[in-house]
Amino acid sequence: MGGHGWLGRHWMLAALLALALPGAGHAAPAKAPAAAAVPLRDVPLGTAVRLSALRSGGDYPDTFLREFDSLTAENEMKMQALQPRRGRYDFAAADELVRFARRNGKAVRGHTLVWGQALPLWLVDHGALDRIGLRLPPIVLPRLPNALGRLVGETATTLTGWRRDELMGVMKDHIRTVMRRYAGDVAEWDVVNEPMADNGALAPTVWRRFIGPDYVEQALRTAHSADPKAKLFINDFNVEYPGPKLDGLVALARDLVARGVPLDGIGLQSHTHVLGYTDEATLRRTMRRFTRLGLDVQITEMDVATSSLLDVARPERLQRQALAYGAAARACNAVPRCTRLTTWGISDAVSWLSPGAAGLLFDGSYRTKPAYAAVRAAFAPR
Ligand code: XIL
Repeated sequence: MGGHGWLGRHWMLAALLALALPGAGHAAPAKAPAAAAVPLRDVPLGTAVRLSALRSGGDYPDTFLREFDSLTAENEMKMQALQPRRGRYDFAAADELVRFARRNGKAVRGHTLVWGQALPLWLVDHGALDRIGLRLPPIVLPRLPNALGRLVGETATTLTGWRRDELMGVMKDHIRTVMRRYAGDVAEWDVVNEPMADNGALAPTVWRRFIGPDYVEQALRTAHSADPKAKLFINDFNVEYPGPKLDGLVALARDLVARGVPLDGIGLQSHTHVLGYTDEATLRRTMRRFTRLGLDVQITEMDVATSSLLDVARPERLQRQALAYGAAARACNAVPRCTRLTTWGISDAVSWLSPGAAGLLFDGSYRTKPAYAAVRAAFAPR
């Protein structure tokens, strides 16, 4: 995965926004009134978990079990992991995480069913000609059961792209198979991950390109019928603060709700950093734009990189990081329909960010950081 490229883009954007946008950036302005006394709620705290780290034992599982209420599979429930070959599912790693959670009374957030990344090669590589502007009608091939047939079929779609009905079938089969397997164990799903482009339009993922804009609605309807009890989320990044991307997501959510499409909540990923985080008041306003529609909200993937201040002494970096986490936790506490705060990892030793970024609540030795205290102070004592 191009983790660094992805992150690089986020950071640049966040830094630009910090300069350009009033409200996105440092903590609330000095003149803001002291926060009104909001009663503390017992907001569940979650984290992304990596199976390999869990298996290695020690501080990682201990800290998880002691401090967190839920886990999100960091990678093990992505399509690439679950359906490496078309129609052949591999649930081993995801099952192990779900069994671990069940055994220990922890909830699981399902992440994620329909996303433009972490796709298996048989799905992602399609539409080479389409990409350079040559639109050929998709070739309709008989379904050949053998390896040669599969190879011919996959080569054809690689050149021409998918037929809408065929990719729709792939999407629905994936959603149904995965959700039915975990019904009863996974009560919340990021059904669609990162649907929005920066300009507020739908991002040009394989789903958007070959199914069309209604893929979001189709995914949600399929998810609801696969597990009617599950809470269905759309999850995205850089939508914590005002801008075309947030406007686009609000418009999408409003339209879905208005037409009775099953959607329960919006996940604000909240990958951010010390110079670009969103202050509490802005975050509350963002959350209310969704709760007004009757939706829940969650912070789903928070980390706060300190790398942009590497020349600043570590204690100061960690204090600033605590401001960012505190703002998010207080905003979530203050909005009754904010139903969970999840960090994207437990400790700085096991994080998709570079070790220097030190983005999480526990340091590389599993000691609490100031950010930990800031989050705990925002929620009712456990
Ligand atoms: C990241 C994982 O943390 C990495 O290990 C992996 O290499 C790439 O994906 N938004 C998401 C998450 O929704 O699934 C991503 O997780 C981080 C960004």
